[in-house]
Parts: sequence; C-alpha cells; structure tokens
Amino acid sequence: MEEIIITIDGPAGVGKTTVAKILAQRLGFIYVDTGAMYRTVALMSLEKGISVDNTKLLGEEAQKLKLNFKQDGDNIRIFLKKRDISDLIRTPEIDMLSSTVSKIKEVREALWRLQRDLAQRLKRAIFEGRDMGTVVFPGAPIKFFLTASPEIRAKRRWKQLQAAGKAIDYQEVYGALLKRDKQDSERQIAPLRPASDAIIIDTTHLGIEEVVNKMQTYVANKLGREE
Ligand code: DC
Repeated sequence: MEEIIITIDGPAGVGKTTVAKILAQRLGFIYVDTGAMYRTVALMSLEKGISVDNTKLLGEEAQKLKLNFKQDGDNIRIFLKKRDISDLIRTPEIDMLSSTVSKIKEVREALWRLQRDLAQRLKRAIFEGRDMGTVVFPGAPIKFFLTASPEIRAKRRWKQLQAAGKAIDYQEVYGALLKRDKQDSERQIAPLRPASDAIIIDTTHLGIEEVVNKMQTYVANKLGREE
C-alpha cells in the first residue's frame, strides 16, 4: 500500500487532537499524537528525577520509549509499556515541562526517528504535532495548520480542565498558554510554524464539525485528483 501521511500542526488548545481523531476515523487512517511522546519524556524526567540539563540521558530515554495507543470509545488511552499514563501526562505541570524537553536536540532526534518508523509501518496515518509538516514529513501530500486566537484556545483548554474536575483559574490557563506558545515558537530546533505548503485553517469562529468537514473536503479533492 502506498504511504499517505497527513500532517496537522498548530499551537496548544487549537483543537488539533479533537479534529485529528475524527478525521482519522472518517478516512480510516491511524491517528498519531506526537505531543503525547514529548509529554511522556517529560513524565519520565519527573519520575526518574532526570534534570532537563541532562540532555544525553533524556535523549536515551526518548530513544527507548515504548508507547502504545489503545482506542477506548471516542478516546485514545496511552500506555507506557503496560501502565496507563493518559491522565498523568495531561496536567498543567507536564504541559510546560513537555514544551521544555521538546527544545532538547537529543530528545527531538530520538522522537523524529520513532515518528518516521511509525509512518513507514502504518502507511496511512494522521500525525499531529508542531513540526510534522515542516521537519518530520516535509514531503507529506496533505498538510494542515490550525490557528485560533489565544483567548479562545485558553477558554477551550480551561473548559477541558474543568470537565476533568480540575479547579483552575482561567487567567492562569491563559498565561500558561501564552508562555508555552512563546517557548514552542521561539525554540531553535523545529519551531512551531506552518509549512509553506500547509493549508491554514483559523478555527476561532468554527465548530469542530465545520473544521473536520473543511479538511475532509480538501483531502477528498486532493487524493481524488491524484488517483
Ligand atoms: O500537542 P501537545 O500540547 O500535547 O504537545 C506538548 C508539547 O510537546 C508542546 O508544547 C511542544 C511539544 N511538541 C513538539 O515540540 N513537537 C511536536 N511534534 C509535538 C509536541
């Protein structure tokens, strides 16, 4: 089967995960959350007490990463070996720490290798992250970049946290999001930015369904034309 990789990049809270999962279901593609990989390296650095300055050791840990994704209704649970870490990697602390470990060259190089190996095995997949269209899969035939105002993204993230029973102030979520945006966009290696050939979708005033429909129409036109 010919490899078809669709990339979705964009800043925190833009709705990438939600739309990527639905689009993958509709197309029969496998969905890969690369942010979860950086989050897991952050969790390992916390749990094993590895300083973010110990870049060599963190790179080695990233290289050994054994992650499994399991479908659970509409959700995907993430297992590190046999341990379900889905909730552990979705805390405000890991939000920021994952952004910090993602600046490390050794970590990025290890995860890039894993991501490219995964693509070869999966053949038809949607990869979601920050540098999928620019660095990891520059030759992907279909690339999306989602944007939305920081206020709306912070509001979405705040609602998610509330729904998960986490009492947190909106202003705190907004501040942390701006800080993470800055760190992800200004880092030296693979900063967050749209690929020159990415389709940019501003989701500020769009519902999930509208975003997915736009993407699906684009994919159908693009793949239809190439067949
Ligand atoms: O998508 P996310 O919020 O789960 O990602 C967590 C952090 O991981 C994000 O702030 C930056 C980093 N990341 C990255 O640098 N490159 C990716 N492809 C995915 C995530």
